[in-house]
Amino acid sequence: EALLRTLPERGDLVLLDRMDHASLIDGATAGSARFRRYDRSDRSRLERLLAREGPRRRYIVTESVFSMDGDTPDLARLVELKRRHDAILILDEAHAIGCLGPTGAGLAEAAGLLDEIDIVVAPLGKALAASGAIVAGPRVVIDYLVNRARAFIYTTAPPPAHCAAVLAAMDIVQTEPERRHRLARNTERLRGRLAEMGLSAPGRMHIVPILLGSADRAVKISRDLLDRGYFVAAIRPPTVPPGTARLRVSVQADHTDDQIDGLCDALHKIVREEGCAGSL
Ligand SMILES: Cc1ncc(COP(=O)(O)O)c(C=O)c1O
Repeated sequence: EALLRTLPERGDLVLLDRMDHASLIDGATAGSARFRRYDRSDRSRLERLLAREGPRRRYIVTESVFSMDGDTPDLARLVELKRRHDAILILDEAHAIGCLGPTGAGLAEAAGLLDEIDIVVAPLGKALAASGAIVAGPRVVIDYLVNRARAFIYTTAPPPAHCAAVLAAMDIVQTEPERRHRLARNTERLRGRLAEMGLSAPGRMHIVPILLGSADRAVKISRDLLDRGYFVAAIRPPTVPPGTARLRVSVQADHTDDQIDGLCDALHKIVREEGCAGSL
């Protein structure tokens, strides 16, 4: 929020993916630059928006693992577009930091494109089990933010204990890559089981959306799963588009095969018992 509120200025254009997190939208809304939304599945809209004459600077803003869809943007294409249109690419690695890449730096590292991203935002509240966020970018950008970002200046600094926890978490991320391998393996197991059950689970990442259509059904199945010991949040409009309510499973490295299979068995039973199978 602080980055997008502070960096883009009047006369600039900020381009946000339609599913970018609320904090990114709030930042762009509060800032003084114009902003437009693009849909990552529409290959031409972003290009058309970038090609428009007028803006002083153009910013492309995307998440790396989309928090409600479990998919990733075509990062190589975004890099190519930002180069062609002399834009600044901002990547929010909230759901990828710690989870992807040889040292856990995220999607850009996994794709070998880290040097091509202008500014990386890494919220610390997911895999790193802390709070707050890191903004990484050119020195001049960081200095500017330190001096101009109100949300950074007019708030108490994080306490030392919190910083120590973040450093300890980063140490684990960098030195225990087997956790990432387990996460990938668990994701594959869950996605494989869901596919066998004929459930629609788009994306391929460790956030696994199970599309159910109606909000009522998503809430009911989420409650039934909780009764059986599985906490899987129901995600409804307006967080996701109408008609695409879903369960959102967040896979963890520490999940066991039994837990994953148990969840799938419970889901299978609920769907069958409620006569939902035909419509899923
Ligand atoms: C993509 C993305 N960016 C930023 C945030 C904000 O993180 P925080 O709530 O830790 O400020 C979130 C939180 O869910 C997120 O999913």
